[in-house]
Amino acid sequence: MNTCSNALITGGSSGIGLELARLFARDGCRLLLVSLPEDELAAAKAQLKLEYPDTEVLTLQKDLSRQEAAREVYNWTRELGLEVDVLVNNAGFGTYGYLQDISVEREAAMIRLHVETLYRLTRFFLDGMLDRDRGRILNLSSISAFQPNPLLATYGATKSFVLQFSRALAFELREQGSRVRVTASCPTPVKQTGFQQTADMADSSLFSTWMTTTPDVVAQDSYRALMSGRELVIPGKGFQWLHGFLRLLPMPLLTRISKEHLKPKRKPTKTNAS
Ligand SMILES: NC(=O)c1ccc[n+]([C@@H]2O[C@H](COP(=O)([O-])OP(=O)(O)OC[C@H]3O[C@@H](n4cnc5c(N)ncnc54)[C@H](OP(=O)(O)O)[C@@H]3O)[C@@H](O)[C@H]2O)c1
Repeated sequence: MNTCSNALITGGSSGIGLELARLFARDGCRLLLVSLPEDELAAAKAQLKLEYPDTEVLTLQKDLSRQEAAREVYNWTRELGLEVDVLVNNAGFGTYGYLQDISVEREAAMIRLHVETLYRLTRFFLDGMLDRDRGRILNLSSISAFQPNPLLATYGATKSFVLQFSRALAFELREQGSRVRVTASCPTPVKQTGFQQTADMADSSLFSTWMTTTPDVVAQDSYRALMSGRELVIPGKGFQWLHGFLRLLPMPLLTRISKEHLKPKRKPTKTNAS
């Protein structure tokens, strides 16, 4: 599959999602962007129309951490009469700190967004893709999916779900001879997106290490992997070797290394745990 007709991108109004939207627009796709803030969606649409005047950009403001959100997104595409042939599950955010200091409700919303909504959107759109024997699903996981992540415990665990779910589904589809493909993208820390601020990670050393990358690189490498039907991509030059290397290390050591990278320059600030 070298082209698509309709690409639905969650969290497509900023960061990695917006960079992915640019690539789909460049290749002549109609964009369906679903994200939280109305003003950010409008700004993203205006920017994309400026850069790619021939691209149709449709937007839907939606809190995707609500349980009914996936069905509402699916119904929206049905009302538009559009078949989604590329689904990008990109919307996400992080929660940082010792578990007891993090809001339960904030983490529960994150679990619903990263796990339940991703699962439900996949189920809704996969059926049509299977019927047409054509389609691609790109799921944004993270390098944190491969090991336990002290101070980013729940976030990392949700991204492990994204990774294992995506890889198992990719295997099932191949085994059944389907031409539908699923790709998991596992970026290292990405600078210049809203992630660090939303996760309240200003204090973390994570974004000043050699492992960081940028949203345009993540989007380009993920897009290439998606279109060529690869199951897994770790965006950024040379970072694929990280995966091979990390797999060789004992888990307790890996957990300590992860904590070293995640630890704050100062002590993590307390949030309103509830
Ligand atoms: N940045 C990193 O270091 C990094 C590393 C590995 C993986 N990732 C993953 O990459 C994906 C994109 O992150 P990013 O770095 O591009 O961050 P970002 O700039 O904050 O983009 C995240 C997008 O998701 C949207 N979103 C968040 N919560 C939502 C909700 N409840 N309903 C609807 N939309 C929601 C955001 O909307 P708002 O603008 O309203 O927040 C934003 O458009 C995420 O899944 C993240 O976990 C990021």
